Amino acid sequence: MQESQRVSGGEILFRTVKPADILEVMNINRICLPENYTYGFFEELAKEYPRAFWVAETNNKVVGYIMCRVERIFSKFDFLKIRRAGHIVSIAVLPNYRRKRIGEELVRRAVHALANEYGCEEAYLEVRVNNNPAIQLYKKLGFVTKEIQRRYYADGEDAYVMVLKLPVSF
Ligand SMILES: CC(C)(COP(=O)(O)OP(=O)(O)OC[C@H]1O[C@@H](n2cnc3c(N)ncnc32)[C@H](O)[C@@H]1OP(=O)(O)O)[C@@H](O)C(=O)NCCC(=O)NCCS
Repeated sequence: MQESQRVSGGEILFRTVKPADILEVMNINRICLPENYTYGFFEELAKEYPRAFWVAETNNKVVGYIMCRVERIFSKFDFLKIRRAGHIVSIAVLPNYRRKRIGEELVRRAVHALANEYGCEEAYLEVRVNNNPAIQLYKKLGFVTKEIQRRYYADGEDAYVMVLKLPVSF
């Protein structure tokens, strides 16, 4: 599935991941985030949930990605209800390509896929409490902060758990 879209500053192609993208995605992950994963982990998410794993490409170069997992969890909204939820595991856009609405488009596409392709009723993610760009992005799309996970990250920083009810109207 792919679609080209003009965002401020140029032409960006949004498409679902291909196996050949994984090394580029891993490289972006290492440049942008301290939470890094093995090749096998990226490969597994690409195989299991390909329609919720999107990349943004320009001039044949991958510049951003989002990847997700589908889980059954206790609802973040309804007490003691088990729900099918989409977990946004990782998202990043290379520094030179930020503030062009690429991250926003990646989240929109992943969230739509989680609802429409995978039947998820909620989406959620963890974000560092000091990661204002990401928090603002998620708020813009309707995510709300439901809880704080103390010392969630390896370096001891806390995480906000942000959640969104699906399906969405955007
Ligand atoms: C978070 C991240 C993916 C955002 O990507 P991006 O493509 O630059 O974001 P967008 O241009 O789509 O921004 C969409 C909205 O997010 C918010 N936002 C993004 N960057 C922001 C910043 N630096 N400061 C404040 N708000 C910001 C704004 O609300 C923006 O909407 P606007 O353009 O109407 O103001 C990017 O900053 C990044 O890769 N960060 C490092 C990795 C990371 O932190 N991932 C999240 C882990 S939970």
